Amino acid sequence: APVSPSSAAGAANGAGTISQDELKAQVGRAALAYVAKGEIVGVGTGSTVNKFIDALATIKDQIKGAVSSSVASTERLRALGIPVFDSNEVDELGVYIDGADEIDHHGFMVKGGGAALTREKIVAAQSRRFVCIADASKLVDTLGAFPLPVEVIPMAARRVMRQFEAMGGIAQVREKDGLPLVTDNGQHIVDVTGLRISDPLAFESEVSQWPGVVTVGVFAHQKADVCLLGTPAGVQTMH
Ligand code: 5RP
Repeated sequence: APVSPSSAAGAANGAGTISQDELKAQVGRAALAYVAKGEIVGVGTGSTVNKFIDALATIKDQIKGAVSSSVASTERLRALGIPVFDSNEVDELGVYIDGADEIDHHGFMVKGGGAALTREKIVAAQSRRFVCIADASKLVDTLGAFPLPVEVIPMAARRVMRQFEAMGGIAQVREKDGLPLVTDNGQHIVDVTGLRISDPLAFESEVSQWPGVVTVGVFAHQKADVCLLGTPAGVQTMH
């Protein structure tokens, strides 16, 4: 069913000056409602998830631990005393909590701004429910304005970039300190602008088959079941 805002909770900020950081903290705290006692929680990556990890630390005695989608999240979880399990040690997770770079009204997302998309998709796939946490600026009608991250095997980067250019996109290899960024999996990221992704399911299926593509940052087959959107008027829950 299409996603539509269904409820608003939380105190409105009368002055309307709530910061983006506080919006992220709000949804991070709100996500605790989806964590069941005694379970292992799937944990995503990014600045919004960092707020969730901080909130999770306040109930760490009530959960068994986490499966993490990145080295960065693993380090933060462990620093706060939350045990981290390898995804291969766990068959199924009840819930996966992660942010997004864009989310549409169907729960389809673009992810990978933090270069963690491959492990994020793996943990999402082993979870029964995906709860997306984001500030309201991430909600879009059509995916594609945010540069689409695609993790590629370095040998395939040029060919993959040419394929995106044939679709009308502009592709470039993401850099860090003047060199290609290397992901947690030892691969590179191609970022693609200028795409309008009108059929996210078909797009994800097609690009995922290109040789050398490890993961495309469209999450349509692993879409969000619930999205908690941070707004100045409180947290909106979209189903
Ligand atoms: C990392 C991701 C993040 O979920 C996405 O980039 C959103 O991050 P933030 O919460 O910092 O805005 O996909 O690969």
